[in-house]
Amino acid sequence: MSLIDDILGETDPDRIRKETEENYREYINPFALRMFKNASLDIIEGRREGASVWDVNGDKFIDCVTGAGIFNVGRRNPEVVGALKKALDRYDMGGWISVLRERGLLAKKLAEITPGNLKFSLFCCGGGEAIEVAVKLARGHTDRSDIVCMENGYHGVTGFALPATGRDVYKKPFAPLAPGYRHIPFNDLDAAVAAVDEKTAAILLEPIQGEGGIRPADNEYLRGLRRLCDEKDVLLIFDEVQTGFGRTGKMFCAEHSGVVPDIMVLAKSLSGGVYPISCAVFTEEISDFLMAHPFVIINSFGGTSLACLTALATIDFMERNDLPGQAEKMGARFMAGLFELKARYPELVLDVRGKGLMLGMEFPEDSIGPRMAYQLKQNGVISIYTFNNPRIIRIMPALVITEEEVDTVVRAFDVSLAEIRAQEERMTS
Ligand SMILES: Cc1ncc(COP(=O)(O)O)c(C=O)c1O
Repeated sequence: MSLIDDILGETDPDRIRKETEENYREYINPFALRMFKNASLDIIEGRREGASVWDVNGDKFIDCVTGAGIFNVGRRNPEVVGALKKALDRYDMGGWISVLRERGLLAKKLAEITPGNLKFSLFCCGGGEAIEVAVKLARGHTDRSDIVCMENGYHGVTGFALPATGRDVYKKPFAPLAPGYRHIPFNDLDAAVAAVDEKTAAILLEPIQGEGGIRPADNEYLRGLRRLCDEKDVLLIFDEVQTGFGRTGKMFCAEHSGVVPDIMVLAKSLSGGVYPISCAVFTEEISDFLMAHPFVIINSFGGTSLACLTALATIDFMERNDLPGQAEKMGARFMAGLFELKARYPELVLDVRGKGLMLGMEFPEDSIGPRMAYQLKQNGVISIYTFNNPRIIRIMPALVITEEEVDTVVRAFDVSLAEIRAQEERMTS
């Protein structure tokens, strides 16, 4: 038996749990493990399939977090997994300094499916790295330094991405950060007009703030930003790391407003949750800097043969199965159920919002988000509050979720809200 057969062959859930918790405690982070346990999110993932994940002990949960939008095509999508297996039979990652057919094919496909004149792709592995590429492209092209970004935005925690993230808790311990980032209130065009000056290279935002609490940008606001950027010769960067690939009911969230950014950042679902890849897609107009310096933004593992083939299979699955349309349809079903709950639990549910299958429910105070996550887990659903705003719990299932599964999740919300109401009543009586 090989080591891997040995690991995969272990089926005793108690032994797996004990060993995993020990390893986390000893070799990863005992405090992180405790926090998972306190939040009742200490599921040790075993089987993963479609919209669901199973704890190693066999308990099934509908996954409404999906790693904040990694698994749009479902957990272990058979076509995507099959593509990666076939790719592995012939290739390895490929040399980063080589010319790879698969990389060219994926870049061409992205140019076809992204809006407007977005054309060139630069590949990396994670979302934060791709944000860094966008920042570098903007600075390189404009020869200006400043990036205007949004309060409560989230763009990752790496070098040039971290300062753009709009919450101090991620940043304070690591000061001094790269300078030149300025945060403004989201959805406030006047603030953007006031913030842009002769040093501004780009405005960077998520078209729906994910970790900021599932807050959609108004279409008029996005159009106003586009006009402002055109007038001032400033670049517009959309971070579609969470909103991309069908999540909001369109292939890309930008399509709702018709606004085409100069750079679009993509990651998470690009390769279906089985192999890391991310990229910045940008227009030919702003490609001058990179054409003159093609090797100043490089990445050993960005856009490998395996990643690109997996991404091509993922996009093919999304298109053939109309995942954006699915997200719109299932999102509408969710919304109907969640609005009914809002009417029935008015003291607990302040708002229900989002687009497609990027939905959030807002509560009146901070403690309810974590308590709801706990209750939902007791009722077979995994969800978690948004990182920058614990009053909002997210509902971001796989886009292949079925009508029956949507109804199951809505029922779990109903039962969980009823339990929170009972707890609140016990506390006040
Ligand atoms: C909107 C957004 N941008 C960027 C990132 C950073 O991606 P990564 O964690 O892959 O670096 C995330 C991660 O959740 C994200 O949600």
